[in-house]
Amino acid sequence: HRMSFTIAIDGPAASGKGTISRAVARHFGFEHLDTGLLYRAVGQRMLEGMDPVEAAQALRAEDLDPETLRTAEAAQAASKVAAIPDVRAALLDFQRAFARRAGGAVLDGRDIGTVICPEAEAKLFVTASAEVRADRRWRELVAAGFDTRFDDVLADVHERDRRDMGRSDAPLREAEDSTRIDTSRLTVDEAIAAAIAAVNLARAQIGG
Ligand code: CDP
Ligand code: CDP
Repeated sequence: HRMSFTIAIDGPAASGKGTISRAVARHFGFEHLDTGLLYRAVGQRMLEGMDPVEAAQALRAEDLDPETLRTAEAAQAASKVAAIPDVRAALLDFQRAFARRAGGAVLDGRDIGTVICPEAEAKLFVTASAEVRADRRWRELVAAGFDTRFDDVLADVHERDRRDMGRSDAPLREAEDSTRIDTSRLTVDEAIAAAIAAVNLARAQIGG
């Protein structure tokens, strides 16, 4: 049977980790889990009046609809429920089982290389300046027809960075053994190529 191989990809909002993760998963033929969707789904339920811990415990894979969970409101709610230790604990087993599936897995989030899969075979930390990240999000919103001000998007990015890096349980931080990819001045294709090269290096090092 095929062995598992886990690629952990962490980084702040709009650093490009989702784009990179999807491309890396396609390249290696691995399954991909966007773990932000778990927290967005719980955040969305909190906005609808549900207790976040109960929502996390009841969450199922079918609930992770990327389309409905893309909103800025769901993102802010996600970063609030993500600071609750019982919420994080309820989502742990699902993520670890996904990471160890046969045939390989890519998980992207904030704590994959540090907490969920500290033993991941390859770890990437994808980052970019807050201004570049806010500009990317702002362009996506405008393209989708939203009438949004850049300054509001930048304020949102700063607020979420602060909350994600400042919480005591599984804060966003770079794992010591991760490869850093700063995408501020990279095209999407360049960032993807850098990620694939880093994973190939990790594979060669373990003889995989
Ligand atoms: O998952 P995360 O929030 O980190 O970022 P994303 O959803 O992949 O969005 C990043 C956005 O920046 C997308 O619109 C990309 O097309 C764009 N972008 C990128 O990902 N990487 C670059 N090097 C340049 C632009
Ligand atoms: O796509 P973007 O980077 O904007 O956000 P996301 O990856 O969908 O994550 C939304 C929020 O969920 C983050 O701001 C974190 O607070 C939380 N999150 C987390 O705490 N741990 C993860 N592994 C993934 C997301």
